[in-house]
Amino acid sequence: MSDTELLSLQTDHLHTLQQRYQQALDAHGYDSLLVSSGAAPRRYGDDQSWHFQGYGPFLHWTGLTGWEHCWLLIRPGQRPVLWLHQPVDFWHATPVLPWEPWQDAVDIDTLEQPGAPSLPRVGRLAVIGDPACLTGVAGDHNPVALLAALDETRVHKTGYEVACLARANALALSGHRAAREAFLAGASEFDVSLAYQQATGQREADAPYHSIIGVNEHAGTLHYQYYSTDAPAQSRSLLIDAGVRFRGYCSDITRTSAGPQEARFAALIQGLDQLQRRLCDMVAPGVAYVDIHRKAHQGIAALLGAAGLVTGLDDDAMVSEGITRVFFPHGIGHFLGVQVHDVAGKPVPPPTDAPFLRLTRTLEAGMVVTIEPGLYFIPSLLDPLLSGPLAGHLNPSLIRELQSCGGIRIEDNVLVTGAGARNLTRAGEA
Ligand code: GLY
Ligand code: MN
Ligand code: MN
Repeated sequence: MSDTELLSLQTDHLHTLQQRYQQALDAHGYDSLLVSSGAAPRRYGDDQSWHFQGYGPFLHWTGLTGWEHCWLLIRPGQRPVLWLHQPVDFWHATPVLPWEPWQDAVDIDTLEQPGAPSLPRVGRLAVIGDPACLTGVAGDHNPVALLAALDETRVHKTGYEVACLARANALALSGHRAAREAFLAGASEFDVSLAYQQATGQREADAPYHSIIGVNEHAGTLHYQYYSTDAPAQSRSLLIDAGVRFRGYCSDITRTSAGPQEARFAALIQGLDQLQRRLCDMVAPGVAYVDIHRKAHQGIAALLGAAGLVTGLDDDAMVSEGITRVFFPHGIGHFLGVQVHDVAGKPVPPPTDAPFLRLTRTLEAGMVVTIEPGLYFIPSLLDPLLSGPLAGHLNPSLIRELQSCGGIRIEDNVLVTGAGARNLTRAGEA
């Protein structure tokens, strides 16, 4: 899609949001809504601030991630008003907003000071955002029922949002290719992260989340958070879970690679990749997301049996005895949007067999979800199994061998369409 088409879709997106917000405000008895973009809090006892990324509803309307102390006023039947914070400041650069077509649908004003703007007559007003930014602002602050209704407006992505998510995927994939090449050349985790940032052209602080880059055993820590600067003595495995923001929208992609000496681990990656593609093929309107999660457990059981990691138990028994949860302890995925774990995924809590599932809804056209099965060798989960009553069904020497490769995760971003699904990640890879 050309940039011109994308920008024209953004104008449609704003019209759709105007309708959705109007309905939410009407339903909850409000005449208007003031949204704060937020501001980076100071670190405790320090004069330094955390890196700022912006509040979800503000990003939903504007996509402007780096703009602190800005405000947006939404009123049914009237043009939105956006106040941009434009301080006179010789310590920091004042952000500049280049002109784009969406600004024709919005009135834009500026504020020199960080506080809320003085408003025209707005009737019954709701104000949403980080409470630290709302002190002294008139109106109802963060009313819970309205917030839930506004979260719901983010569940079904507009054409503009889908286009942004697809671009975020394409950008991240160039980083994943560079990361794999760096790993195969013997790079450290730190150098893999530099290769990723260089290829995506995005500093890590602006990415949707801190990249997870685990080489060898580190690939077995689900959210491994360090970057070793030491080049590995032997490059056995790389798990990289990394995304990009494009106009506020996130990608969230994981790929796992095996080093040249690791044929057994490479075969396991291939098996998980096939399973992951089958799970992506399940995505369609009317499918309960938890059923994809449960299907993943059956697939993991089949892989464990085929690899000889577990013997003497059928697939159903491996699931019911909790063995698959030791190898695949997290949920199959979540909603994706202007936040990596996007809102409104759990109107009902997850079932007891899937406690970490972040999405418990039945899929509908327009939702964007991740599909991210994993198969890990995590000592703290495996050790009790290896010393418990099921130990006789496990192959400890093979488990120890594969523990040096940490684990596997494969994660794509998938749009639910009217007829089935569109895999935004694999489409960019082809
Ligand atoms: N990157 C975090 C996740 O996959 O949910
Ligand atoms: Mn991820
Ligand atoms: Mn994810």
